[in-house]
Amino acid sequence: MWRQILSEIAALPRAKRREALARARESLPAEKTEEWNSSFSEDSLYEAWTTIEPMRELYKYNRRVIREFLDARPGWHIVEIGGGNGALWRDFFRENERGSFTLIDPQESAREAVKSALPGSLKFRVLAGRVEEAEIPPADLIVCGLMLHHVAGLDSNQRKRYGLEGPGKLELLERFLSSVRPGRGICILNESDVYTEIDLAPDDPLLIDRLIDSYITRAAPAVAASLEEPGLDPELGRRLEAILIHWCIGQVETAGTSLRLERDVFELDTTCWLRLLERAGARIISHRFTDDWNLFHQYVFTSVD
Ligand SMILES: C[S@@+](CC[C@H](N)C(=O)[O-])C[C@H]1O[C@@H](n2cnc3c(N)ncnc32)[C@H](O)[C@@H]1O
Repeated sequence: MWRQILSEIAALPRAKRREALARARESLPAEKTEEWNSSFSEDSLYEAWTTIEPMRELYKYNRRVIREFLDARPGWHIVEIGGGNGALWRDFFRENERGSFTLIDPQESAREAVKSALPGSLKFRVLAGRVEEAEIPPADLIVCGLMLHHVAGLDSNQRKRYGLEGPGKLELLERFLSSVRPGRGICILNESDVYTEIDLAPDDPLLIDRLIDSYITRAAPAVAASLEEPGLDPELGRRLEAILIHWCIGQVETAGTSLRLERDVFELDTTCWLRLLERAGARIISHRFTDDWNLFHQYVFTSVD
């Protein structure tokens, strides 16, 4: 059923997709559920989200880069910004592996989840708050997966135009680079490939079109494919359906119509990320899509100097 609904909408001319989506939504359960990024506990929708193939692939490619890097760097220090449910780290470290790990995250359930995914042999420290307000300590490796799009604005100047203080994405990337520069470390960034930055006004047809492109033609089919996996646990199936309805189909109107200052997603496409990384003074070591849906892109970079 899901694949059919989604592929019928994707096959429509762009100008007709929103209306078709609204019609499809009317026939789906309307119950309110967890918002994106509101919980990272074991029974959260995020836990179900991390079982879908693009997320498993994202973790696989991150783990590959991280393992190779750590093995060449005894006494390493990882700083993770935005840890989610800690799925990246589950069963990743070797028994008694040593190193330091700092997590920067404002959500308590994320901090607890990451902590419980790490072995006791690591020195674990938490900076409980948003990265914008944190003093990022010197690091060998910064991991920032699917977090930076929560920060509105390409840079602080663009933020000012919309009445916002503080750093934008550019200034945060500069801070990441300052943190890894002394030790010639690296940063890993994961983000989607879709442009929904703050300059797009609520209800702008371009914003809606791009949200549909990302959530309906790429994310939702990946979730629907997971629903078809043989032997799927019924409880996981229920949560994946809630993700489809509320985080994919519902997200188009939620993110597409909320006031700029209330929108939670300010994504960039790969071209913009690459340009911004260059502006921040990054040297790109590698970048690639990590899944067959072209949903998520991984950037590995260091400081040019
Ligand atoms: C979508 S989750 C991604 C989690 C994980 N990195 C992953 O790839 O599964 C975003 C994470 O960033 C955190 N976060 C959101 N805004 C943040 C901010 N301003 N500073 C630091 N962390 C933030 C959230 O609490 C959450 O843990």
